Amino acid sequence: MTYPPHEHDWSLNSWRKLPIRQQPHYDQLDHLHQIEHQLNRKAAVVPTHQIQQLLNSLQRAALGQQFVLQAGDCAEPFADADPAVSKHKYLNLMLMATWLELLINQPVVIIGRIAGQFSKPRSQLYEHSSRPNQPSVPVFRGDLVHSFTATTQARRPDPDRLLLGSYLTEVIANDLRTMATKLNRVDCLAELMNHIQTSQLTSLHNALTNRYHEPIDLSPQLPDLFFSHEALLLNYEQALSHYSAQSQQYYNQGAHFLWLGNRTRHLGEAHIEYMRGIANPIGVKLGPATTPAELSCYLKVLNPQQIPAKLTLILRFGRHQVRAKLHELIPVVTEHKVPVVWMMDPMHGQWTYTPSGQKTRHIEVMIAEITEAIQTLKQFGHRLGGLHLETSYDQVNECIYQADHHLLSPETTLSPYTSQCDPRLNLTQVLDMMWQLFGHSAAAH
Ligand code: PEP
Ligand code: CO
Repeated sequence: MTYPPHEHDWSLNSWRKLPIRQQPHYDQLDHLHQIEHQLNRKAAVVPTHQIQQLLNSLQRAALGQQFVLQAGDCAEPFADADPAVSKHKYLNLMLMATWLELLINQPVVIIGRIAGQFSKPRSQLYEHSSRPNQPSVPVFRGDLVHSFTATTQARRPDPDRLLLGSYLTEVIANDLRTMATKLNRVDCLAELMNHIQTSQLTSLHNALTNRYHEPIDLSPQLPDLFFSHEALLLNYEQALSHYSAQSQQYYNQGAHFLWLGNRTRHLGEAHIEYMRGIANPIGVKLGPATTPAELSCYLKVLNPQQIPAKLTLILRFGRHQVRAKLHELIPVVTEHKVPVVWMMDPMHGQWTYTPSGQKTRHIEVMIAEITEAIQTLKQFGHRLGGLHLETSYDQVNECIYQADHHLLSPETTLSPYTSQCDPRLNLTQVLDMMWQLFGHSAAAH
């Protein structure tokens, strides 16, 4: 790595000269380039004024006037491009945000991991077949890359999927926009109360009883929903980026918000290079290996114009590391002086397996990690501005309560378990988690 990194002039394809990770190996580069061309000619999914609007909301979140909920699938399947699914997902996100608004007494802005969260970075190259004596197959990298079907043939990267993914993004975005014109706050509150009343969780029943003793003070408008995905496949992201003559900057118009994953946040490499030049608000995942020196570079390199809240720091350290890591990293942000949004991702720093071998995550551990982050940030005069959760619109059984883990035997399978990648929270679990975090005192966060 040349040091200091990323000091040369940025251009939309300057990332192509740098080392890159986590990209599919396409057999036919000509075909890939043709697809890039086609993608670039397509109409933008999101208008630039909405990207700016999200930045304004994030600036309010950095000031403590608003809270951000980033939520949705780990890997969004192409098959979810269906109006019935989008309706369900939209409603679910609105229920979560409305509940959060009731608990923290603040407006919430939602950034869905939705309408394009189709590709995944992976730590392993291969996955083992669940059927005995079957060979291992290339690991699943998202519907934007190849099929979920676990055969070597189906897992070959197919550039046509980039084009299909961009059409489906548009379909999903339009269905969600339609939903936003149909659902109102009153229906949403009724649906929320109904969900809580029929849930089996006593904590939620108690929460609901408490809420009925207080006046409900919510704005008549439902929270805004913006779209986000991990900026992983850079040929695709570049093709969706367009120059705005008005602001004289490039915007990625495939989503409002993009983030840099923990596996691609390497200084001197392609992903940082692409991200540093686009005008969208962006996130960067910070894992336990992040050093203060790296963070200091991110703050300068990824936000060259030093715009408040352009950068969201998405913390995913794991419960046992969060306090010590924040003690190292918060002073870097304080010293830098440009406000950021501190967002907690309690999911990716921890996981465990059930006795039957399914990957799961414990809800109590997530709550503990978020609580530690809230307290530590407060101690340094900062504030948690958002939560980043992997959620399903379906009543899945993928994450569990630690207290229930001992009930599982090698014969028990968690079901329904439909995630193509990481285990997600269902709506009831999210509502309960929010109640446990924020329900007892609105001043907690
Ligand atoms: C993710 O958000 O799905 C993910 C892979 O996260 P991370 O980069 O933090 O591991
Ligand atoms: Co994930």
